[in-house]
Amino acid sequence: MTPISENSSIPSVGFVGWRGMVGSVLMQRLQEEGDFARVDPVFFSTSAAGGEAPQFADGAGTLQDAYDVDTLAKLPIIVTAQGGDYTGEVYPKLRAAGWDGLWLDAASTLRMEDSSIIVLDPVNRDAIDAGLAGGVRDLVGGNCTVSCMLMGLGGLFRNGLVEWGTSMTYQAASGGGARHMRELLTQFGALHGSVARNLDDPASAILDIDRAILAQQRHPSLDASQFGVPLAGSVIPWIDGDLGNGQSREEWKAGAETNKILGTDSNSGTRIPFDGLCVRVGAMRSHSQALTLKLTEDLPVPEIESIIAADNDWVRVIPNTKEDTLAGLTPVAATGSLEVPVGRIRKLEPGPEYISAFTVGDQLLWGAAEPLRRALMIATGNL
Ligand code: HSE
Repeated sequence: MTPISENSSIPSVGFVGWRGMVGSVLMQRLQEEGDFARVDPVFFSTSAAGGEAPQFADGAGTLQDAYDVDTLAKLPIIVTAQGGDYTGEVYPKLRAAGWDGLWLDAASTLRMEDSSIIVLDPVNRDAIDAGLAGGVRDLVGGNCTVSCMLMGLGGLFRNGLVEWGTSMTYQAASGGGARHMRELLTQFGALHGSVARNLDDPASAILDIDRAILAQQRHPSLDASQFGVPLAGSVIPWIDGDLGNGQSREEWKAGAETNKILGTDSNSGTRIPFDGLCVRVGAMRSHSQALTLKLTEDLPVPEIESIIAADNDWVRVIPNTKEDTLAGLTPVAATGSLEVPVGRIRKLEPGPEYISAFTVGDQLLWGAAEPLRRALMIATGNL
């Protein structure tokens, strides 16, 4: 194992869950930004301790056991994308053992604890800096839909211009996990396979094709084990658990996390009511959402666009034309990029303070890995 560099200016950082989907994107971003020169990585594994650490980090040695609390506790910083079960099992043991290092986590387990900060520094850098200075030790990545929404529309929220909002989401398969993405593609393949011959024949009847597709979607042989029902050629208007009050956990997170990131709350009378429906669609890894916002003022659309565009380096206002929307405001256009397009900005019929907006963000970049990577760089004095 790499020696813990307590006396060096380069801190040792333990990485857990670096091989999964979010973890892999995090590793990719750390490499792209040259960040492995800024930290001394120690790689952990829940299943292959003793194996070789990844090649992309020089001299990282062998994989350590991710359940070995004594080894973890020697590190000043741990970054995990291993998931909520891991956090639930290991985090309390580490703290109980007296570990007071920094815990950076992609999972939702600790997000709403008073002791944690949801990290999204283009939006809440002040809170992150103040928290770190004040001894906060848990930095947690936000829900992907919330992070992508605030990266796009943070300008309106941060300038006190949103009285309330709703978000109707179009969430990609990747939000469920890697197996969900595979299942979606397998379903697409099975559907196509069931009508391929008819599709090749221009004279075939579309209603025959449609009937065959529906039969395939409803056939017990179609693998829908991850989503529960077919997603290919359909949508699923429920994401995450059922809170029992008609709201899904994903929908609850939208209001709760948005307000936590913004530092607004009911106690101070600043909470921004924010709610909507969360829907899974057959996109791969970019989440989209259609927003209705009631603004606190009747502002002209060009001014609204300027405020949105000025908020951070990644947001891009897409002109509200068909051509620009098709070219720049789809999951296919947004995927793989840190840019967050926001478009379809217009006044709605109910009144001049009501606007629509549509935004798309790569769920694995700003939605998961990038805020964590940047929080690590902030915490280590590199950003
Ligand atoms: N809960 C999100 C989803 C993913 O299911 O799309 C991670 O925030």
